[in-house]
Amino acid sequence: MTQVVHTRAELAEARAALKGTVGVVMTMGALHSGHETLLRAARDQVDHVLVTIFVNPLQFGPNEDFDRYPRTLDADLEVCRRAGADLVFAPSVADMYPDGQPRVRLDPGPLGGELEGASRPGFFHGVLTVVLKLLQLTRPDLAFFGEKDYQQLTLVRRMARDLDVPVEVIGVPTVREPDGLALSSRNRYLSEPERAAALSLSAALRAGARAADDGRDAGEVLSAAHAAFGAGAPGAQLDYLVLTDPELEPGPVSGPARLVIAAWVGTTRLIDNAAIHLAPRA
Ligand code: PAF
Repeated sequence: MTQVVHTRAELAEARAALKGTVGVVMTMGALHSGHETLLRAARDQVDHVLVTIFVNPLQFGPNEDFDRYPRTLDADLEVCRRAGADLVFAPSVADMYPDGQPRVRLDPGPLGGELEGASRPGFFHGVLTVVLKLLQLTRPDLAFFGEKDYQQLTLVRRMARDLDVPVEVIGVPTVREPDGLALSSRNRYLSEPERAAALSLSAALRAGARAADDGRDAGEVLSAAHAAFGAGAPGAQLDYLVLTDPELEPGPVSGPARLVIAAWVGTTRLIDNAAIHLAPRA
């Protein structure tokens, strides 16, 4: 049975009744099979799965898609039931922020201003603030985040480490369509030609990974990825394509790395990333 609560008071009562380990999956709704994979990963590792569904206004800029972000609560609850969630917390904005937008927000540090943060000022302040708030409200043992939002996952991990938040953060691999497109709630904005153009992101990552597997160096990996992006269907506008270390620190020249990409397809911003293993330097 999946219990659904909408207020912090109801959540406190329902949470107190959960005995054993608790895993949280935080979402903004519009659930797809990528989220379902997160829920199932949680189901395998804890006694109780708690899902939060909340479109967090703090993480949307003034010209972003807060108003048009898909809100599909009934379908989302169906996914939660199917995946065996025990408790769903779906609060209103007024219940989450009863005094209006919080004046105190978490500072994500320098990484918060790079990559996604460079294009979306304040985004990670909003994400980390709501993630910490939801962690306080749900008090999970484990928290599951998708690797698709790799910078978010990295910052949440760092927040938990730096601020001694008592939770283990688990990254869950990205789920893809058979043609490589990473699942995202924003894919539903894409027209058919835009969807074809969106494949340029995963094509770039695959080309980069292939080049790394062939023993190419970092510069060649990036060139291969750029070439594949450019060869995709027209309509995708690259924002960034960066090879960094797995914690998104500057680098790397060899060993484990992450290739991260963001592009605009029409008015939709898409992101993706892949693990890369660079050969040791000669
Ligand atoms: O990844 C998301 O859906 C959101 O950024 C999150 C973690 C639910 C916070 O609003």
